[in-house]
Amino acid sequence: MPYNRRAMDWKHWYEAGLDHIWLPYAQMKTMRPPLAVARTQGCRIALADGRELIDGIASWWTACHGYNHPHIRQAVDRQLAAMPHVMFGGLVHQQAMTLAQRLAALLPGDLDRVFFSESGSVAVEIAMKMALQYWINRGERGRTRFIAFKGGYHGDTTGAMAVTDPDGGMHDIFRGLLPEHVIADLPTDAASADALELVLARHAESIAGLIVEPLVQGAGGMRFHDAATLKRLREIADRCGALLVFDEIFTGFGRTGTMFACEQAEVLPDIITLSKALSGGTLPLAATVARRHVFEAFWSDDPAKALMHGPTYMGNALACAAANASLDLFEREPRLRQVAAIGSQMAQELAACRGLPGVRDVRVMGATGVVEMERIGDLAALRARFVEEGVFVRPFGRIIYLTPPFTIEAHELSRLTAAIVKLVRQGAGQET
Ligand SMILES: Cc1ncc(COP(=O)(O)O)c(C=O)c1O
Repeated sequence: MPYNRRAMDWKHWYEAGLDHIWLPYAQMKTMRPPLAVARTQGCRIALADGRELIDGIASWWTACHGYNHPHIRQAVDRQLAAMPHVMFGGLVHQQAMTLAQRLAALLPGDLDRVFFSESGSVAVEIAMKMALQYWINRGERGRTRFIAFKGGYHGDTTGAMAVTDPDGGMHDIFRGLLPEHVIADLPTDAASADALELVLARHAESIAGLIVEPLVQGAGGMRFHDAATLKRLREIADRCGALLVFDEIFTGFGRTGTMFACEQAEVLPDIITLSKALSGGTLPLAATVARRHVFEAFWSDDPAKALMHGPTYMGNALACAAANASLDLFEREPRLRQVAAIGSQMAQELAACRGLPGVRDVRVMGATGVVEMERIGDLAALRARFVEEGVFVRPFGRIIYLTPPFTIEAHELSRLTAAIVKLVRQGAGQET
């Protein structure tokens, strides 16, 4: 069969590939077959079999402007013609330099030194390495541990797993095999703040930094906390002299209602990690951004004080072009107003779940809406039911949530919330 005809016959590539692909977060033996996607457009996912789904997840929170936005496509096309990629060792290019400058201008305070990488987990690894070496470069070799928080998630690489809450998380089985850090309760009130102070008093000399997802702990259960919690963390970090790392890989670029979650708290971290919506959901890109005093610890005549890190695809020109175009859209289009409108619509429409049997909580922050169940017995069955309703919603743990593209139309969002309300009324996933 000629190559083109084969490519059009989706069942051919689908079935031939199934014996070779290894999918994320999936027991390959028992999982339901994945959905084959042919195209995306706006807030829609077109399946190869002809069905169309309204996307409630924005491809793991990346596609903030919807899919295939013409402005991003044009920017990537232009960049592809000029230069798709060039190594970043000893070479730089306009897209990365412009993006670094724009991020520095957009981020609060003196968060102005940008180190690029290609995934969120790697950005977290780099933040941790930066914090560790910050202390080594300053002559304090004993600061080797981090304080991270229950309910937190920072990625799937080894270092990031070690600061992710092992309890109920996906990295349980690696307990004891990873570097040991301190996993504490978030200081959400005076009592938990006192408890954290006690933990710190015991470990102060050995703590390099604290790492937290500000305002929303995403993959750990879409848990929300308030600005006061972040203020307490800043004070506590300052008291023990540790660096404060905000992982804004989920929260960055408008998801919580402001461009960055740290703005709502008016708290400046020492290091911030960004990814996901950074490239508008088009290409893999991440950034670890440090404040001036962190960078200064590396600024030296001594080569040993340099940050020895350099992912091969660091600063990829296509990804940086997409990110620059994404930032244009944040400037030109009313994204934060759209986030606010999505938030109020979700709050209104998901409120119908409140009080239904099996519902533990309904909450909304920015463009994130959550229905927390007492339990979901059969996640796979529930996910399949959503597809039957014509929507892509991917519950996990006991959480049903929406993080739609910010460009979603009100009637599309209503389809998503209506599907949730309907399935929760029907006892969503209660069956085992
Ligand atoms: C807060 C946070 N940090 C880090 C990561 C890891 O990012 P990636 O999957 O790109 O490695 C994620 C991914 O969900 C995340 O939500």
